[in-house]
Amino acid sequence: MEKHYAVIGDPIAHSLSPEMHNAGYKALGIDAEYQRFHVVPSNLAETVEGLCALGFSGWNVTLPYKEKIISLLDNLTPEARRAGAVNTVKIHDGQRIGHNTDGAGFIRSVEGELNGFKGKKAVLLGAGGASKGIALALTEQGMIVHILNRSPEKAQALVQVIRAEGGTATSGDFAQGDWLEQVDLLVQTTSVGLLGEPFPFSLQGISEQALVVDIIFNPSQTAFLQDAKKQGCRTLNGLGMLLYQGVLAWEFWLGGQAPVEAMQLALKDQLL
Ligand code: ATR
Repeated sequence: MEKHYAVIGDPIAHSLSPEMHNAGYKALGIDAEYQRFHVVPSNLAETVEGLCALGFSGWNVTLPYKEKIISLLDNLTPEARRAGAVNTVKIHDGQRIGHNTDGAGFIRSVEGELNGFKGKKAVLLGAGGASKGIALALTEQGMIVHILNRSPEKAQALVQVIRAEGGTATSGDFAQGDWLEQVDLLVQTTSVGLLGEPFPFSLQGISEQALVVDIIFNPSQTAFLQDAKKQGCRTLNGLGMLLYQGVLAWEFWLGGQAPVEAMQLALKDQLL
């Protein structure tokens, strides 16, 4: 193999990225291989050294290392610096460059369903790492973002980060429901729903114009998305974000255009 890529994380067994990227290499006849490596926290630094020593061209980083890996890198792209998190590393002239494609991947996954972003209202549920990346990407596109979180102080802290980057944001807690009638885009970023559990509040009264996204893709229809459908909203699960963060990582590594359809098919095949 001419080029080697990987994804590192803990846990990692369920990552769909190897199949997605390998299907892409096959579709374009690229001599490369993408592997998955389970890395326990005490081995992160050695793993990075090892990947470099073995001549890997780049790798993806998933939970729980998106922030921890930063101190092991030489340079960050503006996207990674702004997000304070890295999901893609490229070895370029021997330098370890950290990049982040999560936010732009999210934007790509919803832009076909939204008629522009500027001045529109987004509500994000959750204030963790995933919410931060998405919130920064949306405010950069000119959206006004409202963040609701179980612990309101974490939502408030994220609002401060967004404002420091020049974005417009406010925060609240789940108990407030008055935003439902005005929202253009509602994004569920917490882990609630992964095990089939319902979201702690109903979407009754939400604008039918709203696009509702759950970044969970397995199960493909969380109780939250089913509720949104019942209210007449368009819905998307997290498969598009997973696809486009991978597409953008591919293009960061290899240049040119990634074979989106082949990569999408590979993801869908794994979820059948
Ligand atoms: P990630 O990086 O995937 O976003 P995280 O940083 O651990 O993960 O953030 C998890 C988010 O899910 C947080 O917003 C968390 O709310 P708290 O800040 O109040 O902890 C939210 N979350 C997790 N479990 C939840 C639950 N049972 N109900 C409501 N929110 C929950």
